[in-house]
Amino acid sequence: MGGYGDVQMIDENGIRVDGRGPGDLRPVSIETGVIPVADGSARVIWGTNHAVAAVYGPMECHPRKIQRQDRAVLDVRYNMAPFSTTDRMRPGFNRRSREISKVTADALESVVLLEMYPRCKVRVEIEILCAEAGTRCVGLTAASVALAHAGIPMTDMVVSVASGKINDVVVCDLNKEEDNYGEADLPMGILPNSGELVFLQMDGDLSQAEFQQAWDYNMEAAMVVHQIMVDALKGGDA
Ligand code: CDP
Repeated sequence: MGGYGDVQMIDENGIRVDGRGPGDLRPVSIETGVIPVADGSARVIWGTNHAVAAVYGPMECHPRKIQRQDRAVLDVRYNMAPFSTTDRMRPGFNRRSREISKVTADALESVVLLEMYPRCKVRVEIEILCAEAGTRCVGLTAASVALAHAGIPMTDMVVSVASGKINDVVVCDLNKEEDNYGEADLPMGILPNSGELVFLQMDGDLSQAEFQQAWDYNMEAAMVVHQIMVDALKGGDA
């Protein structure tokens, strides 16, 4: 998110480098049950992002020091595989993956009925196999589907999308060039049934009108992705 105004990423007809119009979402497909040993799992292919989420639990909470007497804890781990980007990622946890794990857990805690499982833990593993911007959104979306696939009670699923601004134009669902060289990025976690937000981060500057447009693109995209999530959980076309 450097705001490199000299990098042209949208032409005078509003066509972006990957051929999309300003309001277009990348192609999204979702499959459940991809990790047979997990209690629930999902693979989300979103553009060239590939994310897998696996859910284990509810199970006894270890280590005991993180146990809560009145509810379960969500143990969320987001990781980008070393081969997921052109620059090899150093394996293991780093500052970025800790931050994304934390905001993902916070978003999911808003919907999972944790009070149904006191002193338990639900483990949510998110692995990014191929990264092309918006992986925190793809990972959060995959985790929601995996939790639903595991039968964990939730008030709603979380759908996450990041719109932003490139060359002074607000566009839906940033790709890697747009994320790296654009002027602003607005990832949001949306509850599709109520339109409530459980996650929002903003990188860069947006005017009030631009913010509203990015918000609207995220909301519209979330409804489209939500239908794909529901179809995948019903075992229909993903
Ligand atoms: O993936 P997301 O947009 O949620 O997070 P980001 O930190 O804004 O990263 C944007 C993109 O930069 C990622 O999706 C990757 O494609 C790339 N990236 C990378 O190649 N190496 C990293 N260590 C971090 C990000």
